[in-house]
Amino acid sequence: MDRPQLTAKKEILVETDGPVGLITLNRPEALNALNHGLMEQLVEALEDFEAAPPIRSIIIAGSERAFAAGADIKEMDQATVAQMSADPHLTRWDRVGKCAKPTIAAVSGFALGGGCELAMACDLIVASETAVFGQPEILIGVIPGAGGTQRLTRAIGKARAMELVLTGRRFTAREALSRGLVNRVVPVESFLSEAKKLAHEIAAKPPIAVKAARDAINKALDVDIDTGLTFERQHFYSLFDTQDQKEGMKAFIEKREPKFVGK
Ligand code: HXC
Repeated sequence: MDRPQLTAKKEILVETDGPVGLITLNRPEALNALNHGLMEQLVEALEDFEAAPPIRSIIIAGSERAFAAGADIKEMDQATVAQMSADPHLTRWDRVGKCAKPTIAAVSGFALGGGCELAMACDLIVASETAVFGQPEILIGVIPGAGGTQRLTRAIGKARAMELVLTGRRFTAREALSRGLVNRVVPVESFLSEAKKLAHEIAAKPPIAVKAARDAINKALDVDIDTGLTFERQHFYSLFDTQDQKEGMKAFIEKREPKFVGK
């Protein structure tokens, strides 16, 4: 498996809307299949947004027809174990999951395999009514490799994850909502605007507290309750060193809106 060269063509589109960074997957001819070039560019854009102080939240979106139909099967069909395991491709999903700023997946159409895994690596998912999720890897002789068995199980429980991964069955946005995998289901025309609305809402919150809250919630998935409670409390105390805590509580007492500065 030769490492594909990055082409001049942009596999993603990047823009900002005030404090919100928007990354749009842009391989319509392949239903946004997540090849090396696309994922490399996605991580680069994410890191740029992480490093940009004015950016407070990040959206990863696809098109109406496809969020992403999986990792690019045509890049890996002939690969060997040695080639696959030496390849950094899958770590790019981990990088999305470790983003230092809140991430929202805006999902419409297919979110399959690595596409579903990319959405689940984000903090929140806004889905259109036409969104179709699934981990169909079993149908092509493999298993999810970018977090599907872990994140889907944590999100919807063992029995349901087991069924979906072992059958490869696709599931609808409504089913995803009822199982707690997505945050909201909205008409297809508004999936991006709803994701932006949510991103702006979060971007207006004190960013140090937002980060502490995300870290604590993510910790809840990994540790026992006492460790989690200790972690939460340490983060809670640490926020009393921030200007935003002083401002937030003062504004409450003075019955006015707080002005958060991110310090
Ligand atoms: C490469 C893909 C692709 C993929 C679609 N295409 N999915 N190319 N990798 N994952 C390409 C098709 O080959 C086709 O190209 C074009 O996109 C349009 O797709 P069609 O199949 O013609 O469209 P449609 O009939 O509407 O079917 C849509 C679909 C189907 C149901 C989403 O494309 C499909 O089943 N795709 C594969 C889904 C999948 O198995 N995903 C998991 C991949 S493995 P041409 O050139 O023919 O027009 C995976 C591993 C994750 O994700 C772990 C590692 C990251």
